[in-house]
Amino acid sequence: MILVTGGAGFIGSNFVLEWLAQSDESVLNLDLLTYAGNLENLSSHEYDPRHIFVKGDIGDTKLVPKLLHTYKPRAVINFAAESHVDRSIHGPEDFIQTNVVGTFHLLESVRAYWAELDEKAKTDFRFLHVSTDEVYGTLCANDPAFTETTPYAPNSPYSASKAASDHLVRAYHHTYGLPVLTTNCSNNYGPYHFPEKLIPLCLLNAMNGKSLPMYGDGQQIRDWLFVKDHCSAIRRVLAEGKLGDTYNVGGWNEKANLDVVNTLCEILDELKPREDGLSYKVQITFVKDRPGHDRRYAIDATKIEHELGWKPQETFETGIRKTVIWYLENQPWVDHVVSGAYRQWLNKQYV
Ligand code: NAD
Ligand code: TYD
Repeated sequence: MILVTGGAGFIGSNFVLEWLAQSDESVLNLDLLTYAGNLENLSSHEYDPRHIFVKGDIGDTKLVPKLLHTYKPRAVINFAAESHVDRSIHGPEDFIQTNVVGTFHLLESVRAYWAELDEKAKTDFRFLHVSTDEVYGTLCANDPAFTETTPYAPNSPYSASKAASDHLVRAYHHTYGLPVLTTNCSNNYGPYHFPEKLIPLCLLNAMNGKSLPMYGDGQQIRDWLFVKDHCSAIRRVLAEGKLGDTYNVGGWNEKANLDVVNTLCEILDELKPREDGLSYKVQITFVKDRPGHDRRYAIDATKIEHELGWKPQETFETGIRKTVIWYLENQPWVDHVVSGAYRQWLNKQYV
């Protein structure tokens, strides 16, 4: 079996669902169920013996060794993290705790477990760490996209904490020989995305007649990656990645935030027109910019394409349409998320 951490979050739950759809190998899912963890994402596998869910912290130095010895996973895929830049600006401590200290304790638990495996299991074992393009800092309009050798220059407490965790993972390979792999991906979007991030927030706000908040001038650029493409990249790196290497994963979809939201509005105008016949674009509202807002991220995903033969399947246009349709067709999921802790966060951030 494999151990997935953070498997009740946005990307982790998509990964678990895809894994169980494509493989008979079981998943042990360790997630603390913070505000971002939502077991409802995995309700289709509630009674599936191939999915074992454990509520717990990656930094728990009693629980994690016990789980490793009981279930003997052949791989760990580490999604667990605090992941929202704005939250890291309001309160960085949880980010240091989970992303840095938690990853450190997880690495220690895994190192001890791995050291006791027999030679074959030791050779076959993998620790795959899921990271972000934000560790590379920000780009100007004409800069080349981030490659795996771009120096780290994180600008937010979130990206700094992820950078620290990446360095620890790297060091555990270099120093102890732990068989690690790291992926640095761009902004994901798709089903089960918690509505604090730009795309799901604007989708839900649009449908609820609320404003669509654009930070600053709305011209910040992100490189959008459909979450299922990200999951397939992780499976590929897990199966074929070179030990100790990092792989950048991107969608080759650089878009300015305002263009992203305009596209969302146009798809909604077509699929669920406003009653007054106006475009959802009238709800776009420019608000105060994020402090230290990174201007542009762009991933050069040539290495993973050349070395591992992975390419994204979705363009932004096809992926965003699928995403809008998913949200329209999954109103109960949306309602449950909106009635939870998310509301308190909304008040703190926007009111
Ligand atoms: P998310 O916030 O939706 O989910 C994180 C999950 O981790 C939640 O289920 C949460 O309960 C769990 N978690 C948090 N702290 C934990 C702890 N101490 N122990 C165990 N579980 C804990 O995040 P996501 O968007 O799914 O991101 C997953 C990973 O991908 C993160 O490492 C993130 O940095 C990285 N990433 C995300 C994006 C993106 O666009 N979402 C882009 C690049 C990289
Ligand atoms: P976000 O989804 O928070 O991801 P990240 O900060 O990790 O890139 O934000 C994506 C972009 O959208 C980023 O440039 C900030 C911007 N943004 C807004 O303009 N308004 C919003 O309400 C949010 C949440 C983000």
